[in-house]
Amino acid sequence: MNAELLTPDIITRAPAPAAELCIVVPVLNEALNVGPLVAAVDRVLPGIAWEIMFVDDDSRDGTRDAIAAIARTDPRIRMLHRVGRRGLSSAFIEGAQASFAPYVAAMDGDLQHDEALLPKMLAALKGEQGAEIVIGSRYVPGGGIGEWDARRAGMSNFATRLGQMVLKTQVADPMSGFFMLRRATFNTALRNLSAIGFKILLDIIASLPTPPRIVELPFQFRTRVAGESKLDAGVMRDYLLLLVDKTVGHLVPVRFVLFAGVGTIGIVLHMLVLLLALKTLGEPFATAQGVATAVAILGNFVLNNLFTFGDRRLRGKRAWTGLALFALISAVGAIGNLSVAAFLFGPQMTSWWIAGLVGAVMSLVWNYAVSSAIIWRR
Ligand code: GDD
Ligand code: MN
Repeated sequence: MNAELLTPDIITRAPAPAAELCIVVPVLNEALNVGPLVAAVDRVLPGIAWEIMFVDDDSRDGTRDAIAAIARTDPRIRMLHRVGRRGLSSAFIEGAQASFAPYVAAMDGDLQHDEALLPKMLAALKGEQGAEIVIGSRYVPGGGIGEWDARRAGMSNFATRLGQMVLKTQVADPMSGFFMLRRATFNTALRNLSAIGFKILLDIIASLPTPPRIVELPFQFRTRVAGESKLDAGVMRDYLLLLVDKTVGHLVPVRFVLFAGVGTIGIVLHMLVLLLALKTLGEPFATAQGVATAVAILGNFVLNNLFTFGDRRLRGKRAWTGLALFALISAVGAIGNLSVAAFLFGPQMTSWWIAGLVGAVMSLVWNYAVSSAIIWRR
């Protein structure tokens, strides 16, 4: 080996103690918040070997520069820079995986989570209660949602109830983004995680084979001062996807469930248009059925584009090509449906409803497989 590479500096520097606690902080455009956050964490964790793992999804506001400026003099500050990726949940997961610390926390990078809770969370995990997950909870006595307006409070409340139905254990605030857990607990959940959207705590709890021992500590959700919230319609959609994935995801892909749901809406739409065209407009049956089919195909395409494949949404010219392809694929599906059902009902003498159902399910699977591979491919 080249002796020059072993500079005295490398040989003699005392190794820093390995971190006991890793605080994973997903950040997206939080340039003004990362400095105050590090200072706040440092203030409340004296005597604890901590590290902060920022996970940045390619911020454009100088967030990484702000982090790098601190990291140049403080080796406890680390960062994962993801390009072409999004998502609070996957950011937390990958941040936790990049660390060796036996205790891992999730905390927002916008100062809305009260860092004073961190030492109490760690103490609870190490205490004799044997807690596996400690949650910073807004919905236990002493906790609160701060200055959220009634609309956001109502949404959070409703979403919390939905989440609680998916969990087999009692949790007051399963939607909290502020929690700490043992690495062993994280590793037990790891391979079952859905990693969809924002709600990583719910994902973790639902991914554990047995309900974990949970302690909830109250905190007041603070008001955001700098930067903007990233909560948008996509977050709601992702939350529904997560719930579906957590309930039936081990049986069928969550997208297929959505696609089938949209298909069901399409049938209702078809029947309504058929009724309208026949009874109100007095059109002949063939015309009415044709119009109803066209409307249903259009409706299905729009809903699938918005919802089922919302993350791969086609816009502008590509949406029109997509619609044309979707109509073509649906037509082929319908022909397949008809021939299979006719074959079962005729030569095979299967009962009418089995023949009908097999035909319909076959065309549904066909439409889904081909649409997702061709129209909304990655
Ligand atoms: N890396 C990365 N990627 N970070 C993200 C992303 C992303 O796609 N989306 C948001 N973040 C970061 C933000 O920069 C911030 O540090 C943190 O995640 C929370 O995002 P906000 O946009 O501020 O979320 P919120 O305040 O509306 O919601 C928070 O509070 C809820 C209630 O406690 C989140 O913590 C939710 O998980 C939590 O349920
Ligand atoms: Mn926030």
